[in-house]
Amino acid sequence: MVRDTAGARERIEQLRRELEQHNYNYYVANAPVISDREFDLMMKELERLEKEHPEWDDPLSPTHRVGSDLTKGFEQVSHKYAMLSLGNTYSVGEVDEFVRRTREALMGEEVTIVGEMKFDGTSISLLYEDGRLVRAVTRGDGEKGDVVTDNVKTIRSIPLRLSGEGWSRRFEIRGEIVLPWEAFDRLNAERAFQEEPLFANPRNAASGTLKLQNPAIVAKRGLDAYFYYLLGENLPCDTHYGNMMEARKWGFKVSDAMTRLHTIEEVDKYISHWDKARKELPVATDGLVFKVNSLRQQLNLGFTAKSPRWAIAYKFPAERALTRLRYVSFEVGRIGVVTPVANLEPVLLSGTVVKRASLHNADIIASLGIHEHDMLYVEKGGEIIPKITGVDESAREPGAPEITFVKDCPSCGTPLVRVEGEASWMCPNKYGCVPQITGRVEHFVGRRMMNIDGIGEETAEALFASGLVTNIADLYSLTMEQLTLLDRLGEKSAERILRGVADSKKVGFERVLYALSIPFVGETVAKKLARSVRSMDRLMEMSVEDLTAIDDIGPRIAESIKEYLSAPVNIEIITRLREAGVQMAMGEENDEGRSDRLAGKTIVISGVFNRHSRDEYKEMIERNGGKNSGSISKKTDFVLAGENMGPAKLEKAQKLGVPVVNEDEFLNMISE
Ligand code: IVH
Repeated sequence: MVRDTAGARERIEQLRRELEQHNYNYYVANAPVISDREFDLMMKELERLEKEHPEWDDPLSPTHRVGSDLTKGFEQVSHKYAMLSLGNTYSVGEVDEFVRRTREALMGEEVTIVGEMKFDGTSISLLYEDGRLVRAVTRGDGEKGDVVTDNVKTIRSIPLRLSGEGWSRRFEIRGEIVLPWEAFDRLNAERAFQEEPLFANPRNAASGTLKLQNPAIVAKRGLDAYFYYLLGENLPCDTHYGNMMEARKWGFKVSDAMTRLHTIEEVDKYISHWDKARKELPVATDGLVFKVNSLRQQLNLGFTAKSPRWAIAYKFPAERALTRLRYVSFEVGRIGVVTPVANLEPVLLSGTVVKRASLHNADIIASLGIHEHDMLYVEKGGEIIPKITGVDESAREPGAPEITFVKDCPSCGTPLVRVEGEASWMCPNKYGCVPQITGRVEHFVGRRMMNIDGIGEETAEALFASGLVTNIADLYSLTMEQLTLLDRLGEKSAERILRGVADSKKVGFERVLYALSIPFVGETVAKKLARSVRSMDRLMEMSVEDLTAIDDIGPRIAESIKEYLSAPVNIEIITRLREAGVQMAMGEENDEGRSDRLAGKTIVISGVFNRHSRDEYKEMIERNGGKNSGSISKKTDFVLAGENMGPAKLEKAQKLGVPVVNEDEFLNMISE
């Protein structure tokens, strides 16, 4: 306990320094030296001391990285040095030509080239004074940009105060803010759940996030940043590479891919290496950048109006294909949002056959101007979701009508309503529109929700058509006789469904809440909500005000929950689920050791173990949301193997490419 003021001040400074060092170790060096818990404890102590001594607040304190909720527009400032773009090419030959050209322009001098990744995010310019971050500005129009300092401060890999030495009193550093694939996938999964428009690629997601008015949300999205350009007077080195290596020592993330190349052959090799290897990187890249290393030579070469003569970007070939549109379908999701989907003549695109691509919403259809049977360009936007990027109008059939968004629900005919403030339309007939009902059943049984095997789209539709399952509660009254009467459903499949239904009664309340398909209650929100309110009874009593008092629950979510829980149909469903034995409260036993780290994973245990018994491991799998299975199949996520794992099992795992994990690895997997 620090009592005297001087001691408190010292402690605050010490905590700030140490926490920043740990941030660096974790987010930049990828080598944490303390546990998350120790980190949290230090952070809590700092928060407490800062609260007791508001007079010593520092906007660069690590406590401010969580972002405040303040909303304000962005101030604009002029860049001291314009933010230019790069000349670019898709041809290796032109990169070679660039190297030759610079050598010639420099009268045949030796030229070292720095090869680096072209990160596909949004560019940022940071201003540091006396080793402290003072301002972060977006590229804007190249001349002036938006001040986004508060948002940038939430990016843990960006140093707020520099380490080491040798930086000039005032300098700028430029780099790219990116959203790593993992964070991008998570964000889109959440948006998909809420039937919000998806981000087409990590670049759009990164720039959209950076422009959010609420730094607290920015902080949660998981942005990262790589730096590639140091600007200012009195730079530490006379080479670009040397400066970047210094910047790395000050705490900036500089990609390991950055390297010096001395010959055209080395340049070509670098290109062919990264053309493949980039697919393993945690972030999106759209090419490589080659820069003249010597700053003197850079100065000599100078700039054109738009870009430096000392650098060139090589863009990886865009993976694009041209194919014919068969038809556009309008699909209704479980929350009622109608998504237009282009159904295409199958076409091969970067290794997979593409037959369908989302057209996202009415605005996107209109801006593309698609007509029936058009030839469309498909790209792997962000390399995951195929997207339609254009139309070959010259190949249009004469008189082909333009495709317009439907006015009524394609399924039940109810007139669609526009979602307030968004480009999407939805069918308001929540309880009478078939795809919404079957969609909710499919969601309910999903692996990360109630994990009931054996009910896919077709079965859900068949169950609905037969009148057996018209809402999720009906699943719990299914019998063997009813199921086997269904077309094409064998006894084995019926058994599997019934077993799944019975097992689902053990699924924790957090996942039950997520499984219900309450609009805007995604996985993360459900978890927060369950942990805070603890039971359905309590949740049902809460007002919108009570709900918004919970961390991360805003008015939109709160109103949606209230609306859902006030509808008599839903109250009845919940009552029936409860009577069937579904968990409607957090477990009695303490939650320690419980997690969903293995949610949706099917695991096979094999062999003899040293640290815990087989049964203990089985129990651990269940406590962490996983599922035990006796035999290895394509669906197995991994095998937890002890000593003397049977050779037949091992061979099968290898053949199916199922990973084999040992005891220690498994315990690591489920620990903090
Ligand atoms: S250098 C004066 N290096 O590409 C040159 N840019 O078309 C300044 N980018 O706006 C840029 N990775 O957003 C440079 N390694 C890299 C880069 C890179 C991505 C982006 C940056 C810039 C655009 C240029």
